[in-house]
Amino acid sequence: MYVGADYYPEHWPRERWSVYAKWMKKAGFNAVRMAEFAWVFMEPEEGRFDFSWLDEALATLRKRGISAVLGTPTAVMPAWVAEKYPETLAMEAGGRRAVWGVRKNNCFSSGAYRLLSERITRAMALHFRSVPNVIGWQTDNEFGAPPCFCPTCRADFQDWLRRRYGGLDELNRAWGAHFWGHRVRAWSEIRIPPDQSTFNPGQCLDFQRFFTFQNVRFQRDQVRILREVCPKHFVTHNFMGFVPDLNYFDLAEDLDFVSWDNYPIHGEPGMLYDAAGAGDLMRGLKRRNYWVMEMSAGPAGWGAFGRNPRPGEMRLVALQQVAHGADGLIWFRWRTCTAGREQYWHGLLGHDGRPLRRYREAARTARDFKKLEKLLAGTTVKADVAILYDYDSLWATRIQPSFQGNDYQAGLRRYQQALMRAGVNVDLVSTAAGLGGYRLVIAPQLYVLPDAIALKLDAYVRTGGVLLADLRTGVKDESGLCHERTLPGLLSKCLGIEIREYEAIPESTPIAGWLPAAGRALHAIQYADWVIPKTAEKLAGYSGWHLAPYAAVTRNAHGRGVGYYVGTVARESQFYDELIANVIKTARVRPALKPPPGVEVSVRSGRGRKLLFLMNESEQAKTLPVPAGKLEVLSGRKTLAKLTLPRFGVAVIQIR
Ligand code: GLA
Ligand code: ZN
Repeated sequence: MYVGADYYPEHWPRERWSVYAKWMKKAGFNAVRMAEFAWVFMEPEEGRFDFSWLDEALATLRKRGISAVLGTPTAVMPAWVAEKYPETLAMEAGGRRAVWGVRKNNCFSSGAYRLLSERITRAMALHFRSVPNVIGWQTDNEFGAPPCFCPTCRADFQDWLRRRYGGLDELNRAWGAHFWGHRVRAWSEIRIPPDQSTFNPGQCLDFQRFFTFQNVRFQRDQVRILREVCPKHFVTHNFMGFVPDLNYFDLAEDLDFVSWDNYPIHGEPGMLYDAAGAGDLMRGLKRRNYWVMEMSAGPAGWGAFGRNPRPGEMRLVALQQVAHGADGLIWFRWRTCTAGREQYWHGLLGHDGRPLRRYREAARTARDFKKLEKLLAGTTVKADVAILYDYDSLWATRIQPSFQGNDYQAGLRRYQQALMRAGVNVDLVSTAAGLGGYRLVIAPQLYVLPDAIALKLDAYVRTGGVLLADLRTGVKDESGLCHERTLPGLLSKCLGIEIREYEAIPESTPIAGWLPAAGRALHAIQYADWVIPKTAEKLAGYSGWHLAPYAAVTRNAHGRGVGYYVGTVARESQFYDELIANVIKTARVRPALKPPPGVEVSVRSGRGRKLLFLMNESEQAKTLPVPAGKLEVLSGRKTLAKLTLPRFGVAVIQIR
């Protein structure tokens, strides 16, 4: 297991390097990530390489037993690249080239850029393959830059479409190009849609897929070289959690494991719910443990910064990721830079170069990590519940949200957060994942529903699974055309309902019949399917007169399993708490422990061991019942029947 910092030796005089290595060692660090923005220092002019400075930095680290992940530096092109090959700069929709500077401004289809990228990758790989403390690679940095509209990208998009559809008739059919007379008669007529709220939805959806393809291909060019030259090194990439522009499942495919950059906005309500959900998605991309390659180490911003992590908060944020499957923890950054756009993106050391409170907290966390290391080996999160995370549905919802305020991820969070409040772990997986191991599958807004996925979900329920589906499920096919079926289409049998009409609801309407135990009225907002139960039981409805005949929540026995449907958005989170309680009972999913509000629970298990993480994400002490007589690993003490967690406190109980 690795712990350390993102480190930029090129920012500091050489005489500091050995001091920094010493302080890292003292903090218990054993890894850094380096060089991802250092292209111009490694290839100061085309084809002339200079790795001497990085050799020296690596040697200094090696003396302290610190390993390094090197970044391929293609997220920032040197000025000479832009001067010599202006076509490598991305083009805006209006035809203007990006102005060199900032970063992430390259065209991913430019032949020149792809060649230059391969060349620097190969040169680095050859040079560093036998440097003993280089352990792996990060490709580029945070793929997902704004798209490029240059003629090369346009031609590339056209080629991609040609491969996807074979012929223009098929493309015209798939895009529904008879509408507004948008039929194309030559591939060269096709454009990159500059605006996803007015252009053809099928075209917009395909562009997102193409954009993924383009980034994946760029990464693959690098991965191929790294695998060939450095077979012993791992290859990863720093993803961005819930950032939705690329299909992350595809981007993860060529990598050994996923890493991600975790910048929770300190002080924002729900921040740790999001970080937990993002961690679950990062683990779900390859269904294996991951690293956090960047983790906020202080107030952060490019101009204005946010609040400082409170004492204990950095440790909590880090251990939360461990609880969700992180096996590597890297803080961004080692020392706060005195220059450049990120002067206020604070690190473990201040502008004054002194190790701060935050350095000491990172060191403490590294010690905790060490205590956990042996027990965590071979463990991961094993969830009984899967949430399907579907980029096609996400993008299609972004292109046409259906109703005001609709957001795919917000929809997903309602269930994910209710599960967290219930103390239940969850995997976020793609619709392609095998579902056999899950007792419960939640499929929020499966708006784009190919027949094969509908049939798979139906079979999952028939053979004993519990499915929870909700509004806008099954509206579209994979090309973005609306299915010619009464909703929810191929899932009608499984869910035991029919939806002939639906509407956006501008005001709230009380939910009727649902769980009087909740005490106060619950409200439907934003949208309502007019759900007609066929074989399903109506669990809740609406009290407004025109919606009164319809169901808001249904439950249907289908084969050996059960299909639930939710046809609306509820304003109150209690609605989702009650719903999840009902659904997990049916699915026989038992939380490891039902935490009090503000405390998060997560379990890692494997190799016969089971570790219960308890995290107090509030600023008040919390006392909760725990299994007694077990080892609390961080304090080394045996548990009593109750445990008190101080504010931001974390406990890890070995229950097996
Ligand atoms: C991203 C990048 C880092 C850094 C931070 C802060 O996560 O990967 O290089 O720039 O943002 O802006
Ligand atoms: Zn381009």
